[in-house]
Amino acid sequence: MDENISLENFINNIPKAELHLHIEGTFEPELMFKIAERNNSRLKYKSVEELHSAYKFNNLQDFLDIYYAGANVLITEQDFYDLTLAYLEKMKSQNVLHTEIFFDPQTHTARGIEFSTVINGIHSALVDAEKEFGITSKLIMSFLRHLSEKDAFKTLEQGLKFRDWITGIGLDSSEVGNPPSKFQRVFEKAKSEGFLVMAHAGEEGPAEYVWEALELLKVQRIDHGNRSLDDDNLVKRLAEEQIALTVCPLSNLKLCVVNSLEEHPLKKMLNKGLLATVNSDDPAYFDGYVNENYLKTAQALNLSKEDIYQLAKNSFIGSFLNEDEKKDMLNKVDDYYETNK
Ligand code: ADE
Ligand code: ZN
Repeated sequence: MDENISLENFINNIPKAELHLHIEGTFEPELMFKIAERNNSRLKYKSVEELHSAYKFNNLQDFLDIYYAGANVLITEQDFYDLTLAYLEKMKSQNVLHTEIFFDPQTHTARGIEFSTVINGIHSALVDAEKEFGITSKLIMSFLRHLSEKDAFKTLEQGLKFRDWITGIGLDSSEVGNPPSKFQRVFEKAKSEGFLVMAHAGEEGPAEYVWEALELLKVQRIDHGNRSLDDDNLVKRLAEEQIALTVCPLSNLKLCVVNSLEEHPLKKMLNKGLLATVNSDDPAYFDGYVNENYLKTAQALNLSKEDIYQLAKNSFIGSFLNEDEKKDMLNKVDDYYETNK
C-alpha cells in the first residue's frame, strides 16, 4: 500500500510532456453542457450523467461517432479558447511542462465554422497558458483519414495561412480501410512546406500501415503503433531509428485495442528498446488524463520508478522541442529522479 502511494506521488510530480492529445477529446461533459447552453444548442443527452454513461465503446468507430457529435457544440472562438485553457489548467496540476496538441479542423469547417475561428481560439489559450502556467506547447493539425485526399489538400491550404502557429501535420480518425498511402501526396506537400509529420498507425490497423507511415509518409513519429509488435523487422527499424511511439493505454482499453491493461504491450515496447511514451489521447472520454494513464498502467504492469523515469525522459526525447530545450527538460527529469528514487 505504502509502495503504491509513493509510486502515485512519484508519477504525479515527475516532470513530463504529453505528445498525443486531441483537444476535442478533452471536452468534459460539464463544459459541453455549459457551452451548449450559451450557444442555444441542444445536446442529445439530458444530463452530464446521461452523457457520461454513453461512453461505452466496442471499437474506435463507436467512439468517433460520439466524439464528433460532442465537438459540434463548439461554435465561437471563445468556445475553442475555453476548451483549450481547461486542458492546460489540468496539465498544470499534473506537472506536464510541455504538450503537443492535435486539432481536427475538418470536424469544424465541415459544419461551417471558419478555420480561423478554431485556430485563433486554441492559439490564444496556448499563449496565455505559457504566460500563466509556464507550459510550452506545439500545435499539430490533423487530417481526418475517412475524408478524401482532396479535402486534406484544402485543409493544408487553410493551415498555410497560419504557418507560424502550426508545427506539425497528423493523420487520425477511422484507420482500417484508410491507409497512410491515401495521403502520400498531401504529406509530401506538407513536408515541402516545412511541417513535421506523424500519423496514427497500428491502433486498429495492421503493422503494414505503420510501414506505410514510415516509408510513404516519412513520419517522424507514430501515434499508437501497438500493432508494430506483430512484425520483428518493423520493431527493429523503429528501435534503430528511435522513432517515438505515442502510446495511449487507457484509450486502448476503452476502445478494446487491448482486453485489459495487464495485457497492454507498453512494458514489452520498453524491453525491446522502443521509444515508447505515455499519453491520454482523449482524456474526457477515456477515464483519465496523462497521470492516470501512467498510474493505472504502472499498477497493471508492475512498472518500477525507473520505468516511469524512462517514460518521462522518452516524452521529452520524442517531442518536437529543439535540442537545447530537450536538454533543459531532461535535466529537470534527472534532478527529480535523483532526489525521489
Ligand atoms: N481521433 C481522436 N482520437 C482518435 C484515436 N484514438 N484514433 C484515431 N482518431 C482519433
Ligand atoms: Zn489519437
